Amino acid sequence: MKGHIDTCTRAGIAGWAIARGDEPAELVVSAGGEVLGRVRADEFRPDLNRRCGFRLAFARPLGNVQEVRVAFAGTDVELSNSPIEFRHRLVKPSEADLRWTHGLEMPPTDQMRLIGSNTVEIFADQGSRTASVLHDQIAEFFGEIRPDHRLLDFGCGVGRSLLPMSRRYPARWFGCDVNDRAIAYLQRAAPGVTTFVNAYDPPLPLPDESLDCVISISIWTHLPIAMQLPWLAEIRRVLRRGGLALISTSGPHVVDVRRKRGDAGWGELYAADLEEAGILYRPYANPGLRGVTASYGLTAHHPAHVQRVWSTIMPVLKTSVRAVEAMQDLHMLTRL
Ligand SMILES: C[S@@+](CC[C@H](N)C(=O)[O-])C[C@H]1O[C@@H](n2cnc3c(N)ncnc32)[C@H](O)[C@@H]1O
Repeated sequence: MKGHIDTCTRAGIAGWAIARGDEPAELVVSAGGEVLGRVRADEFRPDLNRRCGFRLAFARPLGNVQEVRVAFAGTDVELSNSPIEFRHRLVKPSEADLRWTHGLEMPPTDQMRLIGSNTVEIFADQGSRTASVLHDQIAEFFGEIRPDHRLLDFGCGVGRSLLPMSRRYPARWFGCDVNDRAIAYLQRAAPGVTTFVNAYDPPLPLPDESLDCVISISIWTHLPIAMQLPWLAEIRRVLRRGGLALISTSGPHVVDVRRKRGDAGWGELYAADLEEAGILYRPYANPGLRGVTASYGLTAHHPAHVQRVWSTIMPVLKTSVRAVEAMQDLHMLTRL
């Protein structure tokens, strides 16, 4: 089975799917475990010169789900035309999800671009979705985010997660990063959040056991191998016993994305190489980033490696594969 999604919004989904043989594929579209509809991929597609297109309007606009799945005969259809699994994240958060942006001074464009948010709208959409994922995992662990909780976004950048989190869920929020310009922006835009510049190497200027929760998105995806465990141990130090850490990594899927995208050093690497190595790292020169050294690069982790190696520092309770923007894996760790 091959397939492709052309559009997927809160209102509906459209694309094409080709099954083996001549029969049009019968597809099941679902989100968050709920079946949204069944559709035959039998519209004529002039670009593919065959009847394989499909289009499904949802009966009601979708709420805040992370992904829509399209399955054929019980097997998910793959987005990039390979025959395993297709997951497509929803492109548009609801108006209510985006309320945190109201009245907010948005980050400088050059700072947003450095983290892959080319427009204010993309920044807001990515932040909304990621904040919902983080909230759900924190709520799963603690019941809910409470006003007396002390939470740190380690490597917060210009607040793509920290801004929606702190504006949606009142608590004692902290953010730190090595990038002084990003922190200067947050100090203007989010004066209620305690933000500070930290050094590239541990320690953090925080007391032992002073936090309930640390979140960290797209940081271990860049740290060189020698810094991976020292920073994890530092996160453990600042967490209280029974505290929670949510840390993202790039898994096998991202290795394939980097190869296809032609990222320097990743052209010959496949998901299977990551499975064998456990962790892969390639340096890259990124003069646009402030506060980091030449060792800052691109790293990938196999979830089995995270489970085996990180657990020597803090137990890894679970891994949610591709939970962050359908790309990065999210690991839930606790300090015993
Ligand atoms: C890809 S960005 C992610 C930013 C933010 N977490 C987000 O998701 O938008 C990586 C961030 O890590 C920061 N960073 C890199 N090394 C760091 C370190 N040792 N301590 C704190 N922040 C670091 C960079 O300055 C940058 O802001």
